[in-house]
Amino acid sequence: MDNLRNVSQLRILQRQYFQLVEPHLLRWPDDATLKVPEVQSWLFTNLFDTDRIASPPPDRYQHRVLKVLISKLEASINDTEEDHLAVAGIVATDGDEAVVDAIKTNIFLNGLDTNDSTGCQVRTAALKWGWPVDATTFSEDYGMEAPDVLLGADVTYDKSVIPRLAATLREFFELNPALQVLISATIRNEQTFETFLNACRRNGFSFEQIDFPPVQEHLQGGPFYPTSVPIQIWRVTKRQAAKDPFAY
Ligand SMILES: C[S@@+](CC[C@H](N)C(=O)[O-])C[C@H]1O[C@@H](n2cnc3c(N)ncnc32)[C@H](O)[C@@H]1O
Repeated sequence: MDNLRNVSQLRILQRQYFQLVEPHLLRWPDDATLKVPEVQSWLFTNLFDTDRIASPPPDRYQHRVLKVLISKLEASINDTEEDHLAVAGIVATDGDEAVVDAIKTNIFLNGLDTNDSTGCQVRTAALKWGWPVDATTFSEDYGMEAPDVLLGADVTYDKSVIPRLAATLREFFELNPALQVLISATIRNEQTFETFLNACRRNGFSFEQIDFPPVQEHLQGGPFYPTSVPIQIWRVTKRQAAKDPFAY
């Protein structure tokens, strides 16, 4: 966090927060600052991570502040007119048709199956890792162009599925070399997860862990997830061709 303006806005908020200033009277950072991922990570770590904070405010106060923060974050993200950023398409996939049906129901129950103000609708499709992804029929098959971002939640859970997962990532990097893959990895077994990182190395992918600690369960406002097992967020990209062919 090296932007001076961001730092001073956050320090003011932090000071007021530990003085238990009423949530609606807190001096919140402006929308542009709230949108920065490092700022969001900083807020969760320095205001709500009670493992790191010696004397956290009472739970009730934290809940009230978190509620205001979440609505501000939502408002700043939804403010598409300001930065002209919008999502062109979203497809939620799984290899198992029964899971795809369950996702469809979930999308319907959350009211995400209709176009939002940006014209974006969440679709579903079956996608089996390890099978070729056909570039020529991609937009017909999935209702959108080749993605810029792939999100994978808890997909590195078993050594046997990893070669097929890596093969599909390779296919998507071929469709779009600038693709960013974000994997939310539930680390039940470190060796299993190491298998995934080894597959990335073998395929020439770059990867890095992103500092985005889970929100404690009693502070979660949705999405809800258990924190008893560590969850790590990893970014995977395609390594750029090295200028020196012998360089690693
Ligand atoms: C641990 S679950 C995670 C499900 C979901 N992403 C979540 O976070 O709740 C792993 C999922 O991977 C899917 N899967 C396993 N092998 C697959 C394959 N070859 N192709 C596509 N999906 C697969 C399974 O059907 C299962 O739904």
